[in-house]
Amino acid sequence: MYLNAYFNNSSVNIEELVEVVEGKARILVPNPMKYTVGGRPEPAKAPVFFNPLMSNNRSISVAVLRAFMDSRGGGATVCEPLSGSGVRGIRYLLEVDGVSKVVMGDLSREAHALIMRNLERNGVSDRAEAVRGDANELLSRVKCDVVDLDPFGSPAPFISSAVRALRDGGLLCLTATDLGVLEGRHYNKAVRRYGVFPLRVPFSREVGLRALIGFVVREALVLDAGVIPLIGYHERHYYRACVVVSKDRADAVESLRNMGFYGYNPRTLKRWLTRGYPIGAPGLGGPVWIGGLMDPEFMDGAVRKAGDDVKAFMEALSKESIAPPLYFRLSELGRVMGFTPSIDALMETASSIGVRVWRTHFAVDGFKIEGDHKLAKLISALSGSPH
Ligand SMILES: C[S@@+](CC[C@H](N)C(=O)[O-])C[C@H]1O[C@@H](n2cnc3c(N)ncnc32)[C@H](O)[C@@H]1O
Repeated sequence: MYLNAYFNNSSVNIEELVEVVEGKARILVPNPMKYTVGGRPEPAKAPVFFNPLMSNNRSISVAVLRAFMDSRGGGATVCEPLSGSGVRGIRYLLEVDGVSKVVMGDLSREAHALIMRNLERNGVSDRAEAVRGDANELLSRVKCDVVDLDPFGSPAPFISSAVRALRDGGLLCLTATDLGVLEGRHYNKAVRRYGVFPLRVPFSREVGLRALIGFVVREALVLDAGVIPLIGYHERHYYRACVVVSKDRADAVESLRNMGFYGYNPRTLKRWLTRGYPIGAPGLGGPVWIGGLMDPEFMDGAVRKAGDDVKAFMEALSKESIAPPLYFRLSELGRVMGFTPSIDALMETASSIGVRVWRTHFAVDGFKIEGDHKLAKLISALSGSPH
């Protein structure tokens, strides 16, 4: 199959498109086997980006948008200014009741041509607009109810325009794949890109997400807007967050109250979030979002709207949504106890002594505990149990 599109008298050819079925969408994408690195498909090498490994990201977003539409009523316009093949926006049109229109954009002429073809193929051209151009430029001239930012790397350059494009109470969904920066492995870049001073801590995966949401909050605050996270999580190589953007000044003030810094003492294993902007903040990391990463009530609804492909993962997130912030690692306990308990032993021991613990999706060997003063009790019970 060949795609020939003509823009400004230049032709674009993508040889060998293949059809992919994802959710209800049938999407033409460049044959992944033609664009490989070390024998493996590398979506970034293809003339139009499509990553099948991000299907969970898209399916979770479908569930989130369904639950969001339930709470606010239909007739919504979605803007997806970094569309690639168009798969995400097309899935929203086909799978989310209440989405009446999707505006899709991409800088690449090949992507734009493919989006138009995929819209046609899925019978949704009449409810969509495909624009070739820069994301910030597109966002500067639309007003919408949902903005979905799914960039290469960091969404930081697009957040401010997205907040402006949203109507009051709209939903901003964003993906970030620059985990190394947000988690503090690239300190200078974290300072430059996000204005965040990270610490290297055993719970860096969670504070990376908090740094990302914190950045969104700070960009919103500039515009007197507030942010209410509905879902924030990590999967594979990315973070994803969907937040309501309120243009009510009172919500902006409340968002600011949920900004702060984090601290960690490797000797006592103590970790903490501190509200506000301590001057100088020696030894602290941030600024980060210190409020909830998920809205438990919203998550309940979103799980009910989820397809089978992502239900179990979303159920796990939903359970975790009521857990306190900042997870612990089994390996940290190992350092102070002289042996590392298994996660099953830890869960069992905690339950037998009446200490509430949660698994966390942030780390396979991670757990959260109700009241960190209970950690000593748990360590003592684990030390006394046969191992
Ligand atoms: C990660 S891909 C999008 C994937 C897509 N959302 C999906 O779910 O399959 C990022 C896309 O952004 C486009 N892009 C990069 N910089 C852009 C910019 N400044 N404005 C508009 N599009 C841009 C790229 O051409 C690419 O197609």
